Amino acid sequence: MKSICLGIESTAHAFSIGIATSDGEILANVGREYVPEKGGIHPREAARFQASVAGEIIAQTFEVSGVSPNELDVIAFAQGPGLGPCLRTGATVARALAAYLNLPLVGVNHCVAHIEIGRLTTKAEDPVTLYVSGGNTIVAAFCDGVYRVFGETLDIAVGNFLDTFALACGLPFPGGPVVEELARRGRKLVRLPYVVKGMDLSFSGLSTAAKSLIGKERLEDLCYSVQEIAFSMLAEVTERALAHTGKPEVLLTGGVACNKHLQEMLKEVAREHGASFQVVPARYACDNGAMIAWTGVLAYQHGLTVPIRESFIKQRWRLDEVPIPWRR
Ligand code: ATP
Ligand code: FE2
Repeated sequence: MKSICLGIESTAHAFSIGIATSDGEILANVGREYVPEKGGIHPREAARFQASVAGEIIAQTFEVSGVSPNELDVIAFAQGPGLGPCLRTGATVARALAAYLNLPLVGVNHCVAHIEIGRLTTKAEDPVTLYVSGGNTIVAAFCDGVYRVFGETLDIAVGNFLDTFALACGLPFPGGPVVEELARRGRKLVRLPYVVKGMDLSFSGLSTAAKSLIGKERLEDLCYSVQEIAFSMLAEVTERALAHTGKPEVLLTGGVACNKHLQEMLKEVAREHGASFQVVPARYACDNGAMIAWTGVLAYQHGLTVPIRESFIKQRWRLDEVPIPWRR
């Protein structure tokens, strides 16, 4: 039977709500992003912003989708990982809706959702996934009932690295797209540390080194070099996971997936291994409610609901701890 799910995303700076059906239709995906006046994201400020826009986004979701509240079958929310105050805001809204509408509640893992929206929108069946965003850098593939993590960052995420580097350069937030633009005019490859340890990555040394060269090298050259080094590290780990698993596809997902140069590099990796390359469409790359709604409806159809009184947030919920019963 067809089910309709409303999903709430609020793990970090975005507050977004989507509606998805069990047939894979996305009926709504609306939201707002908190933009700090200055510097990085303060979790409590972001949470305050989310609470202030929640009502308006709920109304917009029903308006855009043409779905009425009594047509919903289930409410889903991003239960983790993420920033505590932000997760709590989304969870509170989700519990209120579920209680008021007398609907079951599903807690969705945000990382699983980035993978599932990528699979839905690209039709990738069984990919090696590179999930890169402001808070995560993970190479994963489905294996024995879970998304097994083949490699991940040991310190900061690649998106966070790009954002803090850009901020140190006096560039606006988010830094990823600005660095990408400047890198197009880079000519010289500046020496920077390349750190891959086994299957894992580290960006903190690269971050320190890149920041120490601000003002000493042309900004365009620095941006170019930062991207070359960071993305080569990502490509190396993805390639090894691909060679090891023999999977037929590479999927790029998360906010950093919008980067054209990273897309080119991974496409080449996939080609060399006879695999196809897929990238999540830009509107589903950054945090969005649709991915929570879609993953929520998959989980709901496999009985993964959670009673409201047990629906605590999980700030450090790992990708490989989540059962994936909708895949074999
Ligand atoms: P998560 O909770 O999944 O870890 P997040 O809240 O940071 O992530 P996303 O919206 O998935 O969310 O990703 C945002 C990140 O994507 C930012 O670090 C931003 O700089 C980066 N980004 C966006 N566009 C580009 C681009 N064109 N090139 C590189 N990075 C980009
Ligand atoms: Fe995200």
